[in-house]
Amino acid sequence: MSKVCICVAWPYSNGPIHLGHLAGSLLPPDIFSRYNRLIGNEVLMVSGSDQHGTPITVSAEKHGMTPEAYADKYHEINKKAIEDMGIEFSLFNKTHCPTHFEVVQKIFTDLKDRGYIYPKETNQYYCPKCQRFLPDRYVEGVCPKCGAEKTRSDQCDNCGTTFEPGDLLEPYCTLCGSTPEIRPTEHFFLKLSAFTDRLKEYVADKDYWRSNVKTFTKNWIDEGIHDRAITRDMSWGVPIPVEGWEDKVIYVWFEADIGYLSASVEYSRMIGKPDYWEAFWKDPEVKSYYFIGKDNIPFHSIIWPSILMGEGGLNLPYDIPANEYLMFSGGKLSKSRGGAIDVPSVLKSFDADQVRYYLSVNMPDTHDSDFTWEDFETKVNNELVAALGNYYHRCLSFTKKNFGTIPEAGEGLEEVRAEIEKALDEYRECLSHCDFKKGIKVVMELARFGNRFFDAAKPWALVKEDRDRCGQVLNSNLMLVKALSIMAWPFMPRSSERIWGFLGFDGGLEQAGLDAVFEPLPVGQELREPVPVYRKVELKMEEEKTQEAPKEVKQEKKQEKPAEAPTGPFAAYRKMDIRVGTVISVEDHPDAEKLYILKIDMGEEQPRQIVTNLKTVYSRDQMLNRRLLVIANIKPGKFRGVKSDGMLMALDDEEQGGTAIKLLKPSADVPNGTRMDCGLECSSSRIEVKHCEAVDIRVGKLVDGHILGGNVPEDCPDICALVYDSDLRVPMGDGKGCYVTVDDGDFIDGARVR
Ligand code: MF3
Ligand code: ZN
Repeated sequence: MSKVCICVAWPYSNGPIHLGHLAGSLLPPDIFSRYNRLIGNEVLMVSGSDQHGTPITVSAEKHGMTPEAYADKYHEINKKAIEDMGIEFSLFNKTHCPTHFEVVQKIFTDLKDRGYIYPKETNQYYCPKCQRFLPDRYVEGVCPKCGAEKTRSDQCDNCGTTFEPGDLLEPYCTLCGSTPEIRPTEHFFLKLSAFTDRLKEYVADKDYWRSNVKTFTKNWIDEGIHDRAITRDMSWGVPIPVEGWEDKVIYVWFEADIGYLSASVEYSRMIGKPDYWEAFWKDPEVKSYYFIGKDNIPFHSIIWPSILMGEGGLNLPYDIPANEYLMFSGGKLSKSRGGAIDVPSVLKSFDADQVRYYLSVNMPDTHDSDFTWEDFETKVNNELVAALGNYYHRCLSFTKKNFGTIPEAGEGLEEVRAEIEKALDEYRECLSHCDFKKGIKVVMELARFGNRFFDAAKPWALVKEDRDRCGQVLNSNLMLVKALSIMAWPFMPRSSERIWGFLGFDGGLEQAGLDAVFEPLPVGQELREPVPVYRKVELKMEEEKTQEAPKEVKQEKKQEKPAEAPTGPFAAYRKMDIRVGTVISVEDHPDAEKLYILKIDMGEEQPRQIVTNLKTVYSRDQMLNRRLLVIANIKPGKFRGVKSDGMLMALDDEEQGGTAIKLLKPSADVPNGTRMDCGLECSSSRIEVKHCEAVDIRVGKLVDGHILGGNVPEDCPDICALVYDSDLRVPMGDGKGCYVTVDDGDFIDGARVR
């Protein structure tokens, strides 16, 4: 038995983790850890929430929350999501915690005392309009290497290049969009250059690293290793343990990786053995594995090893099996860009093991892989359910029904044993080398063999002709079922445990161990009543429509030339034609209790007729003469036979836990028909109602001179709607001094507009 140290990239707690995190860095180490435990190894597996840095402050500001509240909120959500996925850590910690501060500050001080950390004047982006320094994600632009747009100023998500201030082309401030200046500021630097020779030596024998990791690291070293700034001009983060540096903090990428160590220490303290971590970190025989996504490679193959070398006496990464990306409809599945498939939502519709299966067979280990729900459906139904699930169930239910207990061995056992042995050799080879995608294929091949074996023996006929021989055949099949449940456990733990239980075993698969595949079955052991452990995936045929009376909406067939669709910043918003209108008549819908029929003057020749369900919120009198905002280019529809052309805009804070619904209105007395285009070029081609979901507008209240934590123009009202696009935002308005607001009253700051 040996010890294994498994370190897993710390997801930023700036939103819920999604399928990309699972496939990229969270699921592989869980498979690896379970495999190691199955063969009797002792595993220490740590990770946690990366809670500092601009990824958090940018998101927190956007939601009008403090970084701490925001980061803790998603720490809890993600911790639970990870548990719900069946991913087991020794400890899933967080970086905003005392032990982490302690360990980080100790290492900082040690390295500084040894001359590996030194202060230097340097340049940093500065926004003259926002009057602040703009570290990392506060600046975006074009990647000078691969040309990717909307690239952050510290690293390119697309090609992995890391930057210094000034490297990015066409930089802009993500808070206000203006072009930043470069200003001098003092920072601590990590003397990476001092480790050049030792790094070369370290990577020299890493032939077994994945080629993406090898190539990337080699290129970094070949380009010359430069010292890097490891502090930032901001207040959220680990304080610098040096007097006079109170207004800056340690850079997130210097401290987060120290989290592997601090979480190991924290775990040891938690279990009452404060030295427990030392064997995993100091015994050179213990291998450490770092599971990460490809954008994290240089931080783990260069910077983290340098920090460890500087500190001394600690194991360097043995392997860094970095995955490529899971791509979603052609784009990187990254929650920081929105549009993600987050784990809590996924688990509402699907079982963890269905998802784990699909991500295992479709793992982006050597190439990016594509995620589609259709492929998920196909692979789960045609492979997991049809091959493995079906085999389990036909063996278990047939034997249970006809024998009740495990029958005597005999016929077929040698053939089955040989097949298991062959599979097991390959399986060990794959899993010990982190080749999980191939590992799950070996398991599935064995299940397919099982189905053929079962069919060939025809137990349903044998049971009538020769009950003893039938029993023997079933014993062989149950041998396979047992082997499969053990081998599948690292991939699909919960369903595998259930199969183990149906075979009549008590205790878990981990205790049983991998060697249990060859142990003869206990003849006469009572089988438990089996149920199918995998269910089919049935994707909804139609997207759920949130509109009122959806079935009765009929699209008018107007031939409109598809005009050039807007692209670039705020593209989604710019596809909407939003105008100011005044309600000039209010009628009850003759056939629907909850609907009003409104006539609205929008500055056009004819008033527009719009059907709305706001009758329960606004009385007739409150509605009449009300000024409001209308999306004028929604495709017209019918509600219970009455035509409706346009949609009213209102805030609805239900998503944030509130109950307020409030119509938006212009802040100034502008003419009807005024377009609220934010001074941008907007299209007026007709759009589907569905498109509006892509548009992110929130309403916030003035707090400390900011709305939703950010700067807004001076003449902006105290309650104002802001349009978001990724990290950019503009106050919603006509671009000429009229903004969008709501009647005062209670609603949750940051309420979404729909
Ligand atoms: N939070 C980083 C990311 O999501 C990963 C941090 S890994 C660690 O890209 F090394 F810092 F722990
Ligand atoms: Zn700015």
